[in-house]
Amino acid sequence: MSAPYRVFVTRELPGNGFAALRDDPDFALDVWPGDFPPSRENLLKHVAGVDGLVCLITDTIDAAVLDAAGEQLKVVSQMAVGVDNVDVAACAARGIPVGNTPGVLTETTADMAWALILSSARRVVEAAEYVKDGEWKTWTPTQMAGIDVHGSTLGIIGFGAIGQAIARRAQGFGMRVLCWNRTPRPDQAAAVGAEQCGFEDLLSRSDFVCVSIALTDDTRKLINAEAFRLMHPGAILVNTARGPIVDEDALVTALQQGQIRGAGLDVTAIEPLSMDSPLLTMDNVVVLPHIGSASMATRGKMADIAVANLRAGLTGQPLPHSVSWSVRG
Ligand code: GLV
Repeated sequence: MSAPYRVFVTRELPGNGFAALRDDPDFALDVWPGDFPPSRENLLKHVAGVDGLVCLITDTIDAAVLDAAGEQLKVVSQMAVGVDNVDVAACAARGIPVGNTPGVLTETTADMAWALILSSARRVVEAAEYVKDGEWKTWTPTQMAGIDVHGSTLGIIGFGAIGQAIARRAQGFGMRVLCWNRTPRPDQAAAVGAEQCGFEDLLSRSDFVCVSIALTDDTRKLINAEAFRLMHPGAILVNTARGPIVDEDALVTALQQGQIRGAGLDVTAIEPLSMDSPLLTMDNVVVLPHIGSASMATRGKMADIAVANLRAGLTGQPLPHSVSWSVRG
């Protein structure tokens, strides 16, 4: 029997695929223990000599990590759909395919965007805290009154699978849906009754601006001071994509100056969000710890795809899901 494939996995994973991998004599796994990611030093140490790397969004996989791994590295398999933490170009230059886990998290993440739309509009988190804090003494006509979701206008920035799934849900709320995508998607927009419009038009007409676009050099700080100036004072920003797409200082200013009504954020520019962030002092802001895809079923499926991508990459097969198509021979 040939030597088992050496694989570094930067955290314990859920799912059957990973359990099977652990029991598979063809694989020698080094699994980083605990909930925190390996330090940079440990990452560089543990990748040395591996054939495969399974990583998460918390791990920075750059050229130095690839070099530390060595020339035998055959695949980088990320358990996430977004791969902005991986230097995909550096991987491609070395002929290393990068796997990701699209599809299975689409509906789960769209559910979370809706949780943020509804909780921001109807002040759900603020109201629940009000009760817990013993503030609920009576009922008044305007107590914890928010804004209506039904019948309002939802603008979706980025109209990929998740953006479309968010739009589908809006039909049940009788909403007008606007969408903007860098490459127009007329068929997809028509399929969910959404109106394609220009970026600035979307910002100025939407009651809810939902960010659902990949983080790239082009989309970093796409939602900036100028964007907030275009939004109306009753609008709510929702972000379930990546924090750096929103200029967080500009967001704080927009909220402080009443340029927008509130924000529901599953992601922040730096994660975890610093406890010093002014966002945490604002009643009209809901911040969640990047849990868009966090249902047990979906996380299990994501891990299974990550394992399938790993297995394929190690054996020189095209990955079932990859963001780069070069395969090391
Ligand atoms: C999570 O944020 C993902 O990209 O899958």
